[in-house]
Amino acid sequence: MDQYLIAPSILAADFANLQSELEMLDKSQADCIHVDIMDGVFVPNISFGFSVTAILSKYTSKPLDFHLMVQDPNPYLQVCKDHGAATVSVHYEACQHLHRTIQSIKALGMKAGVAINPHTNVEVLRDMLSDIDVVLLMSVNPGFGGQQFIERTYSKIKQIKTICKELGTEVLIEIDGGVSLENAKTLKDTGANILVAGSFVFNSTSPVDTIKALKNV
Ligand code: DX5
Ligand code: ZN
Repeated sequence: MDQYLIAPSILAADFANLQSELEMLDKSQADCIHVDIMDGVFVPNISFGFSVTAILSKYTSKPLDFHLMVQDPNPYLQVCKDHGAATVSVHYEACQHLHRTIQSIKALGMKAGVAINPHTNVEVLRDMLSDIDVVLLMSVNPGFGGQQFIERTYSKIKQIKTICKELGTEVLIEIDGGVSLENAKTLKDTGANILVAGSFVFNSTSPVDTIKALKNV
């Protein structure tokens, strides 16, 4: 797949001005908006909850890409749908019955993604790859924005592409954590399809220009 999409993560947005941040993203070249939900159990941090996600689609028509960093995401799939999620990614490490969870996401009419932590070998996804739309590779340990990109992510992208070839299937490969203009081009060339960028976008002087630069590497 040669799609190359930019997904700013609103985790790094200014929540005191969330409406204008969303309107800014809406006018930018962002392809979708990454929405990080953390529960303080699966990851050692709490982000925002569904009372915040409820307003997102009021101020943007970009597709919403939900990343559930929660232990047992099953009870929250319907509310993601209700709040406009186009894609929901759940963690391999957080799902007892991953296949069933993926089926539930699809039954709700959303694209289904599986996220894996930096310590998780991509081989564990082999039996799921033909059932999912997105593999979300964590390129930092989940829980916080602004961390350093883990270089081993490049070989994980290659491994997924190899397994997909063997199986005759395709998935979108999404990279989440530490993405910047320093690594975007290499990630794209290695085969990444979706780049999530939080602090690099929102800490820059012009997020719109930064998104444009990431999009046009
Ligand atoms: C981290 C989140 C990321 C985060 C990325 O747990 O999943 O989506 O927002 O932030 P940056 O781009 O700052 O590493
Ligand atoms: Zn994320």
